[in-house]
Amino acid sequence: MASSVCFGLWVSLLMLGFASSAKFDELFQPSWAFDHFNYEGDVLELKLDNYSGAGFSSKSKYMFGKVTIQIKLVAGDSAGTVTAFYMSSDGPNHNEFDFEFLGNTSGEPYTVQTNIYVNGVGNREQRLKLWFDPTTDFHSYSIFWNRRQVIFLVDETPVRAHKNMEDKGVPFPRDQSMGVYSSIWNADDWATQGGRVKTDWFHSPFIASYKGFQINACECSSATGATANATCCSGSGSGDNGKKFWWDEPVLSELNVHQSHQLLWVRANHMIYDYCTDTARFAVTPVECIHHRR
Ligand SMILES: *[C@@H]1O[C@H](CO)[C@@H](O)[C@H](O)[C@H]1NC(C)=O
Ligand SMILES: *[C@@H]1O[C@H](CO)[C@@H](O)[C@H](O)[C@H]1NC(C)=O
Ligand SMILES: *[C@@H]1O[C@H](CO)[C@@H](O)[C@H](O)[C@H]1NC(C)=O
Repeated sequence: MASSVCFGLWVSLLMLGFASSAKFDELFQPSWAFDHFNYEGDVLELKLDNYSGAGFSSKSKYMFGKVTIQIKLVAGDSAGTVTAFYMSSDGPNHNEFDFEFLGNTSGEPYTVQTNIYVNGVGNREQRLKLWFDPTTDFHSYSIFWNRRQVIFLVDETPVRAHKNMEDKGVPFPRDQSMGVYSSIWNADDWATQGGRVKTDWFHSPFIASYKGFQINACECSSATGATANATCCSGSGSGDNGKKFWWDEPVLSELNVHQSHQLLWVRANHMIYDYCTDTARFAVTPVECIHHRR
């Protein structure tokens, strides 16, 4: 018993990736609307008003590892707004891991949409309601990525696990380094209650707050262009025949028992949409959906 507790603790610590928070500008830079950024000590605020939203991006690109940001979403009336936190590679066949937070009218719950693009193809949306109000406090949102799986986590609870099913012929993102991005923008044509509720600019500015920036990943290209970590940045070069990185530990090749239970709980109690069960949209069930509960 004690040893399994220790093991669980060790896996949890491993999962945290031994990261400590960095200051915003050590890892990131504003990418647009610099005048819609506000720094209050360790907290960064992004503002959306009727002139502009705002966005930032990492200075470097990464392969594998874990990225975490603490976010406090737009409070009160956030209808029509979308705050996104995502990783993406460049080019027409890009890979992308998305968290999109869809605002709502005052008192109505946010919807969290996740999506995964592989080789330029997305259409893998899932939606959930959170088990807390994401506008009253900071909560951590993370993307963990290795050669076996991509996990989306909210306060360290997995809300989505996308397994490598290359053995079933499903492409898996493991050969393109990715930047880390966040932005807030007006999406009232689709975001809230299917686009029926529009942004009420009378309630602007809409402000999303950020802190606790953590990236513990393989750095593949930096702003200065100096980095080239050949071992971890080559998608084919597995950690097995070279130096092992923390994200290549065998225990991280799938969810542990505790995490599997947490994910089942999320899916049973908080999931409101899963592309895998949308038969109206997909006449043929996507291959990864047939296998993904194993
Ligand atoms: C934006 O809102 C401000 C304040 O409500 C208003 O004065 C301004 O005309 C608006 N600008 C645009 C581009 O709609
Ligand atoms: C907003 O609230 C309504 C009513 O509770 C809910 O149906 C909807 O899923 C919520 N989220 C969005 C993004 O519309
Ligand atoms: C990659 O390169 C960076 C910068 O040169 C270095 O700090 C880091 O330790 C290297 N290795 C990994 C696994 O990111």
